[in-house]
Amino acid sequence: MLKNIIQSKYCPIFLSSLIFLYYLHYFLPLLILAYFIIAHFVHLYQRGPIRKYNQINLEGKIVIITGASAGIGKETARKLAWQNATIIFACRDEQKTIKVINEIKQETGNSKLHYMNLQLDDYNNVKEFVKDFKNKFTQLDILINNAGIAQWWHKYNKNNHELVFATNYLGHFLLTRLLMDSMSKESRIIIVSSVMHEMIRSKLNFNDVLNGKYLENYNNTKYCGVLLCQKLSRILKSTKVVALHPGVIKTELLDKAGNTIILQLIQKMLFWLFRPMTLSVEEGAETTIYCALMPYRELLNGGYYEKNRLSKYSKSIEKLNQVEELWEFSHQILKEYL
Ligand SMILES: NC(=O)c1ccc[n+]([C@@H]2O[C@H](COP(=O)([O-])OP(=O)(O)OC[C@H]3O[C@@H](n4cnc5c(N)ncnc54)[C@H](OP(=O)(O)O)[C@@H]3O)[C@@H](O)[C@H]2O)c1
Ligand SMILES: *[C@@H]1O[C@H](CO)[C@@H](O)[C@H](O)[C@H]1NC(C)=O
Ligand SMILES: *[C@@H]1O[C@H](CO)[C@@H](O)[C@H](O)[C@H]1NC(C)=O
Repeated sequence: MLKNIIQSKYCPIFLSSLIFLYYLHYFLPLLILAYFIIAHFVHLYQRGPIRKYNQINLEGKIVIITGASAGIGKETARKLAWQNATIIFACRDEQKTIKVINEIKQETGNSKLHYMNLQLDDYNNVKEFVKDFKNKFTQLDILINNAGIAQWWHKYNKNNHELVFATNYLGHFLLTRLLMDSMSKESRIIIVSSVMHEMIRSKLNFNDVLNGKYLENYNNTKYCGVLLCQKLSRILKSTKVVALHPGVIKTELLDKAGNTIILQLIQKMLFWLFRPMTLSVEEGAETTIYCALMPYRELLNGGYYEKNRLSKYSKSIEKLNQVEELWEFSHQILKEYL
């Protein structure tokens, strides 16, 4: 056996591997140290400048946050609660959300936090939500379209629309469209998108997106959010509309996406490995908070924000020119609800 190895042409590789393994314990600590140093800088880069708007008083301002029961939506709600805003937690899970509301009420002393049921993939429910909102409130100052899901395998809602697209895009389109006439003067709409929208290379076929024909739909929904932002920013007169990428954050998003144990495990390991580079949930909420609290005249209408600063859309967006097409398509698909 040993003789075989020594005589084979792989002998040098084999020997050098042995030597490498033998000395590994000398430089392993160095490697680990280097990893953490690099990770630290990646983390700082992802996070961007620190912004604090502790003085801004949102007393009397009405804010809707979709998906405020978990992740960065919850942290956004917490900060805006500190700033005295009236917040509508537009969420699907009543028990879970009430718990979150009570926690934030206790912590901040803000009693103007309300739960209102919103199930984004159910368009009748979205309509009900808006009706209910308009009965209770006369104006809307900040709308934060934050809720979102990712799925490894396609599922479909009651209307047979692919579930990620229905939740992340169509539900939010309907919500925003129906709330447009409630927006107050100097109001804002903040659309939580993702850097994933930048994967776009050629025109999307929206019918294929709707029917789940693309291998991946999450990126497509984030692209659509960006297109919606551009359209709204052009037609709304006293409302500014922005889209943003929050960073890479360990939230519940991927835990809910995988339905096999193996995938869940791989995901957990990857996140554990990259944890030093990813943002905390609090840090992940910062870009949204920045857009919600920065002085109105500084916010760029139609702008794209990331790392707590103004950034740029993927260049393809202008070239592909699908803003109007998506707007028409969305009205067409949801015409019976509008
Ligand atoms: N995490 C990241 O690295 C990352 C990166 C880029 C962009 N984003 C975006 O950030 C946003 C927030 O995600 P997150 O990471 O904070 O995820 P998360 O922890 O899973 O929170 C998502 C929120 O959306 C709600 N939601 C899901 N489906 C819904 C539906 N059909 N109707 C109403 N609400 C629904 C969830 O409600 P339940 O609590 O009931 O599940 C939860 O409150 C998403 O738009 C996501 O695409 C995240
Ligand atoms: C919120 O309201 C309380 C009570 O009116 C006030 O003391 C506090 O300064 C306000 N917070 C901010 C950030 O303005
Ligand atoms: C999303 O990914 C798919 C590949 O899985 C690709 O065909 C599509 O163009 C991407 N869409 C966007 C908006 O990046």
